[in-house]
Amino acid sequence: MTAVDGSSIVVASANGAAHRRAKQVAGELGLPVVKDWRTAPALVALVIDVESAALQLLGDKPPGPVTIDFANPAMEYRRKGGQNELLGRAVGVRQGRALSVFDATAGLGRDAFVLADLGCRVLMKERSPVLAWLLGRALDAAGISASEHVRQAAKRMQVESGDSRLSSVSDGAVIYLDPMFPERRNNAAVKKDLAVLQALHGSDNTCNELNEHSNEQLFLWALEQPTPRIVVKRPLKAPALARKKPSHAVSGKAVRFDVYVLGDLP
Ligand SMILES: C[S@@+](CC[C@H](N)C(=O)[O-])C[C@H]1O[C@@H](n2cnc3c(N)ncnc32)[C@H](O)[C@@H]1O
Repeated sequence: MTAVDGSSIVVASANGAAHRRAKQVAGELGLPVVKDWRTAPALVALVIDVESAALQLLGDKPPGPVTIDFANPAMEYRRKGGQNELLGRAVGVRQGRALSVFDATAGLGRDAFVLADLGCRVLMKERSPVLAWLLGRALDAAGISASEHVRQAAKRMQVESGDSRLSSVSDGAVIYLDPMFPERRNNAAVKKDLAVLQALHGSDNTCNELNEHSNEQLFLWALEQPTPRIVVKRPLKAPALARKKPSHAVSGKAVRFDVYVLGDLP
């Protein structure tokens, strides 16, 4: 796999009824439209349906489509299972405290949604225009969800497309970083979500060093912002980002949140 840019992503319609919408979206994102994504010479297809959209990895025996849906059962399961508390604790969520969070690596927006659901106002920034577009559509859908808590969380979320390293974070906002992990030992176990993210960014094993370099740059950018706290998600056993020792860490079964305390939370 080589580095991916827009030319490795195509837009396709899921059916005849979605064709016009697919053309519109392709125009908006500056991407080519193909008739049949199954035979497209690309790495990823953005498959547009009348009211939904999905990312589909291409190639031999690709996994199923990846969608962003904040009201899906997996998000509900995660919510009820109490797994969200670790992230909330790392960020500093406390009853009666309205935190702002700048999620500098929004991805599929799952952690951002968890934080918004815990009461934070979250600005998601995502460098992939396709992901940023999907996040925007997911927020639109969440805003009219049948579930009250999903609607409320969506009201606290915003998304921007672009490189976080070019942004200025507003005073007092906590910065959350979940960069691509440096190493995946068991490729067979890489989940389809991650496979799509990696394809979108051309991050295969040969790019690990490059990834780690840009992750470190992101961290250095975060340290320059007027933030009271930076939280970095890492694999449980991975070294700290840029080898900078955190103030403390909040660990779960598979991931760890390294917390850098730089001031008092508002
Ligand atoms: C592992 S994913 C984040 C997953 C996310 N926490 C979630 O819950 O879905 C990392 C994402 O960060 C994005 N990213 C990496 N560096 C970035 C930067 N400098 N600015 C904006 N987005 C960035 C990548 O495009 C990728 O989508």
